Amino acid sequence: MCGIFGIVTKEEQPLGPILIEAAKRLTYRGYDSVGAATLSGSRIDLRKDVGRVEEVAKKYDFATMTGQRGITQLRWATFGVPSQVNAQPHIDSDGDLVGAHNGNVVNNVELRQQFIAEGLTVRSQNDGESCVHAVERYLNKGYDFIDAIRLAYGDLQGDYAFVIGRVDDDRLYAFKKGSGLVVGLGEGFTCVSSDLPSLLPLTREIVRLQDGEIVTLWAERVELRSVKDGARIARESETVSESMDAVQKGGYPHFMLKEIHEQAQVAGEVLHMLDGSPEVGRVIEAVREARHVYFIGCGTSYHACLAGAVYFAQLAGRAVIPVLAPQFIPQYLPAVNHEDIGLFVSQSGETKDVLNALQAAEERGMTAFGLANVIGSTLTRATACTLPLCCGYEISVPATKTFTNQVVTFLYLAYRMAGHGTKELAAIPALMAQTLELTAPQVEALVPPINEWNDLYCLGYGATLPMALEGALKLKEITYAHCEGMLSTEFKHGPLSAVTAGFPVLFAAGPGDVPLIVSGINEVTCRGGRAIAIGQEDARLRANASDLITLPAAPADISALLAVLPLQLLSYHMAVARGYDPDFPRNLSKTLTVD
Ligand code: M6R
Repeated sequence: MCGIFGIVTKEEQPLGPILIEAAKRLTYRGYDSVGAATLSGSRIDLRKDVGRVEEVAKKYDFATMTGQRGITQLRWATFGVPSQVNAQPHIDSDGDLVGAHNGNVVNNVELRQQFIAEGLTVRSQNDGESCVHAVERYLNKGYDFIDAIRLAYGDLQGDYAFVIGRVDDDRLYAFKKGSGLVVGLGEGFTCVSSDLPSLLPLTREIVRLQDGEIVTLWAERVELRSVKDGARIARESETVSESMDAVQKGGYPHFMLKEIHEQAQVAGEVLHMLDGSPEVGRVIEAVREARHVYFIGCGTSYHACLAGAVYFAQLAGRAVIPVLAPQFIPQYLPAVNHEDIGLFVSQSGETKDVLNALQAAEERGMTAFGLANVIGSTLTRATACTLPLCCGYEISVPATKTFTNQVVTFLYLAYRMAGHGTKELAAIPALMAQTLELTAPQVEALVPPINEWNDLYCLGYGATLPMALEGALKLKEITYAHCEGMLSTEFKHGPLSAVTAGFPVLFAAGPGDVPLIVSGINEVTCRGGRAIAIGQEDARLRANASDLITLPAAPADISALLAVLPLQLLSYHMAVARGYDPDFPRNLSKTLTVD
């Protein structure tokens, strides 16, 4: 959520095109406004507004911006409505500092009152502006820049990263507290960004910052210092080999569709990694010995936890408690001790709700393991060990390939825990590819009638329940229709009253659950509703459902996983048909680093 990028060059040059491209690479994080600032000599050129990068950049002619330093920011509103004044970057009272942040300064309201009382000029409600004033107030008192930042860091509560520059200077400064920040070193320039993908086209030489670190960027070098005592920190740069393909659409119209189609391949990669991972045995052993086992995540990652809990119980006879991360603290924390373990699941590894639960659990002595996609993220550094999801970058806001690899990982762990060989799982990648190919035309044919509705249900049972919940989340997230996911047998206990002629109800049907699902289907169809089954070819489903989206033949545990693929496709095509951009759904952000 929000994204910052800054660049320092040797001398004044056109920076607008670089800032526009960097901003575009940050868009996947989610945003509502865009800004850019360049600095050269005693001049700051600041342009910003609400809207998409392309629109704002065109309207304000970012392409013509020149400078020796530049900053761009994409804002996802928390403090202050999306508006031009709240868009970032922000300047200080006199207009000789300019800065931007990502993250959340939780004491923003109190700080703004202090700044106003101190006579500083506060122009917006936004917490990014508070970061600028927090530095300004100490510069005004005569502190040098590093000390002013150190003191500001103490005043700014919350999790954020911040970049700031001053006129008549040749440096940018950035600091990190809880949000990602990566420095890039190039030929004749240095740069800094919220995340690695936005740096990749510029350089492969990077330095990862840690919390409590300040970086000063000159065109030729960078210097790291500790916020605590201002001492220099020595850190070698690293050369990253990440592929650029991940941040390009590769011929697909949207990242989401590309990522849906990458699922078979990344499933193969995660299975390969798990086969060779010494950490798998360690996690299984810990699950075996623990008193209680919790699977903890949010959103899509929580749905994977639910699937994991079904697999562990069904296959390995191990009861596990799946829990939404923010509910873990009020509900379970008092019951947790050192005999328990938690598996914290997160694509980004930066979700604040998950990190809060992790910290609280570790304080109670729980051993924490991670399941994350972004290696080097806070989660991966804070857990005893983390299994990587091996998905590469997932750019689209709706999670797809990271979900299926979370589920594949849980399935693999459950098989191993049960003492089964994992050979059967090697069929998953081919089955996923087959499912996508087989179901795509069936799904596309159903888009027009389903898209007439703004309410629908997505039901599942046993191992398909988590898939139904995930399908419903995808549909809500990018089509903006209301779609409720629930246990199929619960539908008759109330929601059935919503059914009228043509009302769509999706049923994810496991091969062993067909009789029960058929009952649910008939409760819908006899009231005129449209029951759309997703399952393997079966005469009972064929005879009773209004439509059958056919999955390839597979064992029940794998079949459940396959059921989510047509739901991903359905949500994608419905969103596109409605004219929405599935990659950047309104109001949402890829990484939620706020409470
Ligand atoms: O990075 P995480 O897996 O921790 O993110 C958790 C949720 O915010 C995330 O899964 C969200 O629900 C997705 N956008 C859904 O597609």
